[in-house]
Amino acid sequence: MAVPELAYLNGRFLPISEAAVPIDDRGLLFGDSLYEVIRVYAGKFFRLDAHLARLEQGARAIELPIAVEELRAVLLELARRSGLGDAFVYLQVTRGVAPRNHVIPPDLEPTVLATVRPLVPLPAEQYEQGARAILRPDIRWGRRDIKATTLLPNILRKTEAARLGCYDVLHYEPDGTITEGSTCNIFGVFNGVLRTHPTGPRILAGITRGAVLDCARELGIPVEERPFTREEVPAAEELFFTDTYCEVLGIVEVDGQPIGQGRPGPLTRRLHAAFRRLVAREARAD
Ligand code: PDD
Repeated sequence: MAVPELAYLNGRFLPISEAAVPIDDRGLLFGDSLYEVIRVYAGKFFRLDAHLARLEQGARAIELPIAVEELRAVLLELARRSGLGDAFVYLQVTRGVAPRNHVIPPDLEPTVLATVRPLVPLPAEQYEQGARAILRPDIRWGRRDIKATTLLPNILRKTEAARLGCYDVLHYEPDGTITEGSTCNIFGVFNGVLRTHPTGPRILAGITRGAVLDCARELGIPVEERPFTREEVPAAEELFFTDTYCEVLGIVEVDGQPIGQGRPGPLTRRLHAAFRRLVAREARAD
């Protein structure tokens, strides 16, 4: 029989409640670790190659040795064993276990852990009504392209947003440039042109972001990977978040001010529908 919630830890598949790491794990002590959140739709991973490529890039940047093909095999086996159709897979690779010392010890064996859990999607009404957001200064580090588990600024912002009934924040730099949310990328529509921050060290190169750009190009929607500023936000015809969890979620209000018509806009809806078609198409092609 399938076991829906399941963990993997350093070579073993086991119930999540039984998986534990030593207290000297550098992931726990320093957040010296990387992660990925990957979606499984109808039993198939969405863009697993892209997630693993992003992890590999981050690992190279922090000199963390990882074996991508082994990780891929682990994830496929974890999803298979769970028997889940729609699921979330969480993968984390830490530097490994050693007595606490900031200097990275040589030749550590990384800790590899993963979990699979059933997906609880956002309610359909959330997509109908759209989401609210707040503007906040971006207080994170300068290598946001590395998907590290050191997420204190992100969890504080996300919690602040949630307490105010918002999905997330719009982070801005000291010069007003909008970067991304605390768990998602941000797109805007200005004069019919879809705009989003270019990839680079200031944002995470979201897998959903990339897929939405593919959809926009396919639909012939003009796209510019050029940031917009907080001053431009009130003039946005549409705004939306993208991430593995929400896919494409319209933003209808920022700091209490309506965006566009105060409802998810037409391009947002078209792109979300196109994204779901892309997911189905890629799953068939697998
Ligand atoms: N967050 N930006 C940040 C800071 C993120 O943490 C994420 C993902 C994204 C979107 O990336 P993707 O489209 O690959 O999910 C952008 C995941 C879901 C998380 O931390 O749970």
